[in-house]
Amino acid sequence: MRVFKRISQIRKTLQRYKKRSRIIGFVPTMGYLHKGHLSLIKLARKKSQVLVVSIFVNPTQFGPKEDYHRYPRDLNRDLKLLKEEGVDIVFYPSVKEMYPEGYKTYVEVRELSQVMCGISRPTHFCGVTTVVLKLFNIIEPDLAVFGRKDFQQAVIIKRMVKDLNLPIRILTGPIIREPDGLAMSSRNIYLNKIERQRATILFKSLKWAKESYKRGNPDPKKIIRGIKQKIKQHRGRIDYVVAVDKNNLQPVNFLRKGTLIALAVYFGKTRLIDNIIL
Ligand code: PAJ
Repeated sequence: MRVFKRISQIRKTLQRYKKRSRIIGFVPTMGYLHKGHLSLIKLARKKSQVLVVSIFVNPTQFGPKEDYHRYPRDLNRDLKLLKEEGVDIVFYPSVKEMYPEGYKTYVEVRELSQVMCGISRPTHFCGVTTVVLKLFNIIEPDLAVFGRKDFQQAVIIKRMVKDLNLPIRILTGPIIREPDGLAMSSRNIYLNKIERQRATILFKSLKWAKESYKRGNPDPKKIIRGIKQKIKQHRGRIDYVVAVDKNNLQPVNFLRKGTLIALAVYFGKTRLIDNIIL
């Protein structure tokens, strides 16, 4: 496994593989890897001949009051895990390498990035699409894998790839959860013991929503109200709970197979997201 910090160097190495028509797979991450990340890497490993993983805590996707500086980092542990997964190339650039002095260009995917997480994090997805497009341009992968944990992010990336005619296949992987149902996240370590326990209500309430739908309840308002009630009982502070079309992220009037129920909730200062597809 080779680790590159410089754009020019990773490009040079990848050129050699491209000349030999190798299928290049790519999984972008912000590091502090857990089994959710590793599941995407396993999926990409199966589909590609050369597997590239990036580790970059991207400052442009954090708001001014968000956790950029205290976002967890552990490069040595990450590299060990990536090696065990058979990753070929790790891209680990500095902020200066990605955003040198004078940097001015940003990519915006309209509407899709202004709903759900985009309401409380208005600049977040612009940072995500900008860094992902830069990474795509640097690595030029044949395929890239994203997690359905960040469902809105995956929808936005797919839209960008289509709109900008990028020749990259976007695959998604399922949400990997802790044994008690909490979706794995690098941010879970911020939770104290009580918050961690309370946060299990997120998946429980999503499962309740799906069961309620399956028992014949077609009303998104009732379902959303039910979810909110359960979360509040467990001292979660709700950012949003929505029932939307999984393709355009617009609210639905009736629940149907394929509807996305998604939520963002604070426990203490930690903001968690989760979702389920009916
Ligand atoms: P990060 O939060 O590190 O996540 C990297 C990838 O792992 C994303 O595609 C995310 O959806 C996926 N992921 C996270 N938790 C998961 C879980 N429990 N199950 C399955 N997949 C999971 O998302 C980002 O980084 C950044 O926004 C990035 C795309 C790297 C751009 O900076």
